[in-house]
Amino acid sequence: MTRTSVASPANIALIKYWGAVDLERALPLNPSISMTLRECVTVCTAAILPGGGEDLIQIAGADGILADAPGRFARAVAAHLDRLRARAGRDVPIRVATRNTFPTAVGLASSAAGFSALAVAVTRLLGLRLGADELAELARASGSGSAARSVVGGFVEWGMAGSGDSAAIRVLADASHWDLRDVIAIVDETPKDVSSREGHRRAPGSPHYAARSAELPRRLEVVRAAIAARDLAAMGDVIEEEAIELHLIAMSSRPPIFYWGPGTLRVLERVRRLRADGVPAYATMDAGANVHVLCEPAWEADVQAALVELPDVVRVIRDGVGEGPADAPPLF
Ligand code: PMV
Repeated sequence: MTRTSVASPANIALIKYWGAVDLERALPLNPSISMTLRECVTVCTAAILPGGGEDLIQIAGADGILADAPGRFARAVAAHLDRLRARAGRDVPIRVATRNTFPTAVGLASSAAGFSALAVAVTRLLGLRLGADELAELARASGSGSAARSVVGGFVEWGMAGSGDSAAIRVLADASHWDLRDVIAIVDETPKDVSSREGHRRAPGSPHYAARSAELPRRLEVVRAAIAARDLAAMGDVIEEEAIELHLIAMSSRPPIFYWGPGTLRVLERVRRLRADGVPAYATMDAGANVHVLCEPAWEADVQAALVELPDVVRVIRDGVGEGPADAPPLF
């Protein structure tokens, strides 16, 4: 195969991965559960460069035009290409181009989408036919652990604590099981200044870390059961607790990390008011200021209408559960 092109999704964590046993290999301290998205994707096109030479790593600008990727991102991609080449046993130069359909580095899992897209596109390009666990392992070897959950669709659990294989992923339910929607309120598009990786590193130093860990076995059970029963209200409180405690731990890490902005609190307040008015919607955030609001399809338009009218909300992305990586039109 001389060229492959794949769209791989971001995901939103219902139970958060926060804290690592091994940061380099992104081995989590606790299991996490996410929902794979369908609109927030990274498109990655990869081709073997004829005639040897260097890799060519490009990124699409807002206008869709490809340009050389900036240094730090290009280095992370090049390191990922090296790992993928080593796995395939093929030392060939590769051209890759990526385009995100959503804002990058603002806590919307752009690294999960990006590194899973690279893993899927490049392994296919190099002729490997891998199962989900192998792909997940390669995706998270980038250092973005949550990328492991983006190689498959639906509702996904990753990282069985205490088991020998803490890299394992498990599809709890396919996308067709439950058409859950995610209305994402964008309140800040400035790239965050502290990476999730640094957040994982500092997390165990928070005085709240142990208290949240003690809650996790129950929360995992609640979320697994709610997914099986397609019952958002049954897991609503738990997913909000998870989001708030992720940020509580970040804010009480040493030194503290503040991912929230004023808009975050206003969206959370609006979601509570929606519920008081009878709209079953629940909020969650990853490591950023922007807020995912989960609801059933029947309530999606009401949720969107309530969020767009908030002055802090720059825009809203309507997303929902997706089926995982898929072929995409090539970028070059
Ligand atoms: O995969 P990373 O290293 O970018 O960390 C992801 C951390 C959270 O998004 C906050 C939680 C999660 O489980 O996705």
